[in-house]
Amino acid sequence: MDLSGKHAVITGGANGIGRGLAQRFHRAGANVVVADLDSDGARRVAAELNHQRPDSACGVRADIGSEQGNVDLIRAAEATFGTVDLFFANAGVGIGTDLETTEDAWNLAFDINVHAHRWAAKHLLPTWLSRGEGYFCSTASAAGLLSQIGSAPYSMTKHAAVAFAEWLSLTYGSRGIRVSCLCPQGVNTNMLNQGDAPGAGPASSVVRSAGAVLEPAEVADITLAVIEAETFLIAPHPEVLTYWGRKVADYDRWLAGMRKLQARILGE
Ligand SMILES: NC(=O)c1ccc[n+]([C@@H]2O[C@H](COP(=O)([O-])OP(=O)(O)OC[C@H]3O[C@@H](n4cnc5c(N)ncnc54)[C@H](O)[C@@H]3O)[C@@H](O)[C@H]2O)c1
Repeated sequence: MDLSGKHAVITGGANGIGRGLAQRFHRAGANVVVADLDSDGARRVAAELNHQRPDSACGVRADIGSEQGNVDLIRAAEATFGTVDLFFANAGVGIGTDLETTEDAWNLAFDINVHAHRWAAKHLLPTWLSRGEGYFCSTASAAGLLSQIGSAPYSMTKHAAVAFAEWLSLTYGSRGIRVSCLCPQGVNTNMLNQGDAPGAGPASSVVRSAGAVLEPAEVADITLAVIEAETFLIAPHPEVLTYWGRKVADYDRWLAGMRKLQARILGE
């Protein structure tokens, strides 16, 4: 998809990867709706974009952790720039650790990291199928292909996000619906950096030790190239594909390696 003149909606667009995507898609010529729970941040990002090109961006408060929140966002975006061409379900939470994770935290992780994707798709697809096109992107994680040492909720929800994107692509790809799934490893954002706080668990240390930490702008450049090529997997860290190949080639060997990595990080 050539994004010039297209209408793109990005959730979690106030910060981190989402802000990088909003800025890059806007530079490629898209009109952009920046949606976030952080309404001040969303409006700030949109204001910067409007400064570069008047009336080309809109910052809205959105809580995508419910079906209604997704409906409200899609309707607000349509009222601003017309039919949505590309929807990027990027907002996510890195919440929860082990089996003692609270039920509220499990529910929040599934609502934001998984159900939000299907709620958005549910309300975008009728229009997209009737016009024979539409582009759905989601941010999962390398944890959705591999795993996340230190967080069962993150591992499970990100696998589910990859599974939903695959299902959407195989079910509707022949009817003009394009799907891509972003699976980065470490990216220099609040989520990664807040994971370094005392008591946050080992997840951020594991991510840092596994490979390069990219800047959101680098991830956005790679993502745009994949969207232009209309292929499925966006893997900004090439080493993730190597690790993923090893997992598929020999599951038990891969699990043993992950145990060793965990022991090293935890100093066991
Ligand atoms: N940073 C990394 O290393 C990394 C790696 C792999 C995947 N990811 C994924 O990238 C995505 C973006 O995360 P990030 O790293 O940019 O973190 P971030 O914390 O900088 O950004 C996440 C954004 O999502 C917003 N958000 C959270 N809950 C929301 C809700 N209910 N409704 C609307 N917006 C909401 C937050 O306000 C925030 O602006 C997430 O899905 C995350 O899981 C991040």
